[in-house]
Formats: sequence, structure tokens, C-alpha cells
Amino acid sequence: MAAKWTPESWRSHKGIQMPFYRDAEALASVESQLSQFPPLVFAGEARHLKADLAKVSAGEAFLLQGGDCAESFAEFHPNNIRDTFRVLLQMAVVLTFASKLPVVKVGRMAGQFAKPRSADTETIGGVELPSYRGDNVNDIAFTAEAREPDPSRMVRAYNQSAATLNLLRAFSTGGYASLDRVHGWMLDFMGRSPWAAKFEAMADQIGQALDFMRACGLDADTVPQLGGTSFYTSHEALLLPFEQALTRQDSLTGDWYDTSAHMLWIGDRTRFEGSAHVEYLRGIGNPIGMKCGPSLEPDALIRLLDVLNPSREAGRITLITRYGHDKIEAGLPKLVRAVLREGHPVVWSCDPMHGNVIKAANGYKTRPFDRILAEVRGFFAVHRAEGSFGGGIHAEMTGQNVTECTGGAVAITDEGLADRYHTHCDPRLNAAQSLELAFLLAEMLNEELKERRAAA
Ligand code: PEP
Ligand code: CO
Repeated sequence: MAAKWTPESWRSHKGIQMPFYRDAEALASVESQLSQFPPLVFAGEARHLKADLAKVSAGEAFLLQGGDCAESFAEFHPNNIRDTFRVLLQMAVVLTFASKLPVVKVGRMAGQFAKPRSADTETIGGVELPSYRGDNVNDIAFTAEAREPDPSRMVRAYNQSAATLNLLRAFSTGGYASLDRVHGWMLDFMGRSPWAAKFEAMADQIGQALDFMRACGLDADTVPQLGGTSFYTSHEALLLPFEQALTRQDSLTGDWYDTSAHMLWIGDRTRFEGSAHVEYLRGIGNPIGMKCGPSLEPDALIRLLDVLNPSREAGRITLITRYGHDKIEAGLPKLVRAVLREGHPVVWSCDPMHGNVIKAANGYKTRPFDRILAEVRGFFAVHRAEGSFGGGIHAEMTGQNVTECTGGAVAITDEGLADRYHTHCDPRLNAAQSLELAFLLAEMLNEELKERRAAA
């Protein structure tokens, strides 16, 4: 029997990857402030997402989760929010059109600040300083002052998240996301990508379908789904003092929810048994994700699932696998088999980003597009072979025309990385690469569904 959970019970568990704040009083004051601030999301919305994810776990929908590796104060701009949202909409339309499955859209947005790091310190030119841990913790500039964790950054992150979420809500329900506007979502600089033409052709077909439906009396006035979309937010629940301060009891059910985002996930480094992060997440009612990398053994996974989802509620857990293109086919089957054997209802989602990071010759951290695709292919192959449903994708991407991942149809070379490399953490797919990924993914998903339908 697990000990009693409270919003602060994580504090007596082993917590790693969190900063040490020298000024305990300043920290306490920020925590108290945040705990008085309005919730960013409501429990009912988190339950809607859980219901949507339950459909994914049953093979009746697909999950698209994406956004920055790390949001930053510097890149906070309405155009950046709009462009990432727009590319996610484009990807969702491509996936829906091909698979005829509803796509559940979840942004790594409006709160994705805190970063786990492989080393506590960074050394440049003989100078050793604490690692950068995300804009809600410290500053990326390489000076001792900038790298000192500052609790007041949590307040700024909260405010930025609130403003971002406000814009996302406006975009998703205020007309921008209307299917009528699917042509308008095309980004100018995508014109060079061969996939842009493919998207235009698909938009034409959708337009014709809408014209037909309008003639039959069905339009956004009669079918609200055509005039907007549901869009959810998510981030890694890493900085627990922040998450705790946003944890509120739902007045309807009496259950606790983390109101900082609809969905929270636990990273590959902090998902060990008995960790502070597992302890915190087990007690909140939100849908939760868990990153699963090569070091996760099936027995440990099942024990974690029993802790995080003892009542085996569908939609509660999304397992986000991140093996690397060369490890997925050997590593993933044993996890899939264990989960099937134990009858845990989960969403399986593929993060083809975090196992495929390499260093280019000129020192840039990058991800080759063909390795990302290879991991997605491997993911579907394993699920098909095991008789389970590969139900989602988790991508680090942006609507900006950055040069951070190599390859793709408008090929970015190692040398080209230097042109527009802006990420605060890991390299992201740019808008054209994201759309290309969606088209190739749609093809794979379609194959998948054809086989499943034929077998049924
Ligand atoms: C991330 O998603 O940015 C991340 C750090 O992932 P992981 O925990 O899988 O390494
Ligand atoms: Co990342």
C-alpha cells in the first residue's frame, strides 16, 4: 500500500535534476505567490484530454505532440506561437486526411521551460559554471551571475505561459483554426519545399469536400468542429516547486490536478522507481506521459505503471519511447510485450528526436532527418509485429525556418547549421521538415491501418 500522497509528498523522495536555490526565503516567497495565482488550465479540460487519449489507446485516434525543446524568454513572440501552432495544425490535417483518424493535438508549449541536463556543470575555456537548466531556472549566458538559479524566473515563466495559452486558446477557437482557412496556413518560406505543393493539393481537396458539405447545409455554423479545434498544452514536470504551487484540488471531484498544463510528462532521467518526480505525478489527475529510453527494463516499467495508474484508467498514461534509430527494433519489443501481457491500457508514442542526437563536425548538436524517419519506421514495425497500436508522435519542432536538424527535402547540410541555429537546448525540426515528417508518417500510418483493417 503506497503512503499517503500530498502535493508536497515528493519532497521526502529522491529529487534529481532540480536546482539548488541559495536564497531559501526568496524561493518560499515565489512559491507562495504562485500558489495564489489563477490556474492555467482546468481539471475538466485535463479530463477531456484523457478521454481523447483513451481513444488513442484503443486505436481510434492518433496523438500529435510537438513544440520547442525549451521555450525561452528571448523567443517569446506572438508570431513564434502562431507559427508553431500553424505547423502543428498542418501536420494534424495531413495525418487526419491520410488516416481518417481524429488527431489529438498537444503542444510542448505554454510551460515547457525546465530542462534536465546530462552534466551539472559546463566548462568553456577552462571556466566551469553550473549548466543552463531552462529559462525558468537560470540564464543561458555563460557567466556565474547568469547561471545562478533565480526563483523569480518561475513567476516570469508563469506569466509567459499564461499569455501563450491565451493566444493558443484564441487561435484554436477564434476562427484561425477553421478548416476553411487550411490554404492560409501555408508558410511563405515553405514554397521551396516539394511538400508545400503536396499540402496545397490536399488543401484543395479539403476545400472541395467543405464546399460539398456546405451545399448539404453543413458548415461551421451547424458543425462547430469545422470552425475550430481542440488544442492542449504539455511540458515536462521537472521543476517540482513550480508544479506543486500550481497543484489545485478540483471542486467537482475533490481530486488534485496540476493546473500548469493539461498533460505533464516525466523525463527519461527522472522516471526511476521511488523518485520525487514519480511520487509527484502519481497523485495528480492529469493525463501523464513517461519517456522510455533504452535503460528501462520491462519489470520496472510495469511496477511504474502500477504506481502511476493503479486503476488502469485508459488515457491516463502515454509511453513516449525514445530509443534511437539503431536501438528501437531490438529494445522496444520487450516493453510492448510486458504491457500487453499485464493489460495496461497505454498510448504508445514515438519520440524520434532524443535518441538521435549527434555532434556535427563543426560542433553543432544536430539530428539527421533520415535517422528520425528510421526511428519512426522502426516504431511502427515493432508495434505491427507485436500486435499493438503505435498511436502517436512526439517531436521537437518549430514553425520558424531554423537550421538545426540536417537533411530533409530542402537539405540542410552540416555547414548550413550555422545559418539559423537558435534553439535554447536540442535541435528542432523546422516548418518544412515538420510537414515532410507528417506526410511520411501519414504514409506509414496508412499502411498500418490498411493491414489492421485487412486482418480484422
Ligand atoms: C525532452 O523531451 O526535451 C527530454 C529532455 O527528453 P528525455 O527525457 O527523453 O531525454
Ligand atoms: Co529536448
